[in-house]
Amino acid sequence: MITTVTLNVSVDKAYKIKGSVRPGTVSRVEECTNTAGGKGLNVARIVDLCGEEVQAAGFAGGFNGGYVRKMLDEDGIQHQFTEVKSETRSCINILAEDGTSTEYLEPGAPVTEEEWQRFLQDFAWMTENSSVITISGSAPQGLEAECYKTLIEEVKRQGKQVILDTSGVYLEEGLKAVPTMIKPNQEELEALLGTRIQNRQELIKAGKQLKNWGIPFVVISAGADGALLICEDGIYHGRPPKLEAVNPVGCGDSMVGAFAVAMSRSKTPEEALAFAVAVSAANAMNEGTGRFQSEDMEQILGNVSVERIQD
Ligand SMILES: Nc1ncnc2c1ncn2[C@@H]1O[C@H](COP(=O)(O)OP(=O)(O)OP(=O)(O)O)[C@@H](O)[C@H]1O
Ligand SMILES: [Mg+2]
Repeated sequence: MITTVTLNVSVDKAYKIKGSVRPGTVSRVEECTNTAGGKGLNVARIVDLCGEEVQAAGFAGGFNGGYVRKMLDEDGIQHQFTEVKSETRSCINILAEDGTSTEYLEPGAPVTEEEWQRFLQDFAWMTENSSVITISGSAPQGLEAECYKTLIEEVKRQGKQVILDTSGVYLEEGLKAVPTMIKPNQEELEALLGTRIQNRQELIKAGKQLKNWGIPFVVISAGADGALLICEDGIYHGRPPKLEAVNPVGCGDSMVGAFAVAMSRSKTPEEALAFAVAVSAANAMNEGTGRFQSEDMEQILGNVSVERIQD
């Protein structure tokens, strides 16, 4: 079993409109698609598509909370959300005919201390029945920056593996508990280390620095250029073949989901990297977020290159 943590769940609404966004006017929406949103839920869909058992943890409340649960039910994904008093937020992405994307993200109501304590209890038993836990995205208001550090400490106390994919203060604080794997992109890494990274050499140096903090698997994702994996076995660069990207949103989450699956199947680091690059690249070829076609993935997997670049 793999548990995915999504503290900032939302109902994601994609509005397709004709022409362009025109501020101060009324616009008709041509098409509206609702999705169970939050990065950890993308991870959950990917794990499920890879054929592993998954359960989604997080907070859900009100009518929107019920709606998110229903959408996950339709996808056949188990969820054990901690019920909160406030309504789960909505996030709106306006996709205009001119190719622009304009997002409005609700802040979400603050989580209370009592709700957080209930979540910690739920999380402890969900960890007990899992081999790998993923933690993704930001946290709602009301929670301390150390919230992920607390979760990682619990996972490690139980001797399980944990992947942390977040940014800013949540990453900074979470790292103090030394997760099994992190997956920053270059921007997140630069913000964390407070430096600019100009080339692959510097990227490797930054990855090694994090590895030296004790993190066993440091993955640095680089979009169409694939990803670097820095671990005890060595440093590897996994590259997808050239492909037609349709929607790269959620590629990072797809990579996290695939690594969680590979970890639960005790794959070697090289095998895990090739698989994660193939799954995430197949997600880029799919219109949906956190979705892929098995045929695309299999075909890409046969053409992924994994180069060992340094000992
Ligand atoms: N255009 C693309 N073509 C092929 N593979 C891609 C493409 N974009 C992303 N990928 C795959 O997805 C992985 C993760 O992508 P990326 O580095 O963009 O993550 P990210 O910045 O964390 O994204 P997000 O957080 O928005 O999901 C890459 O390492 C690569 O394997
Ligand atoms: Mg990301």
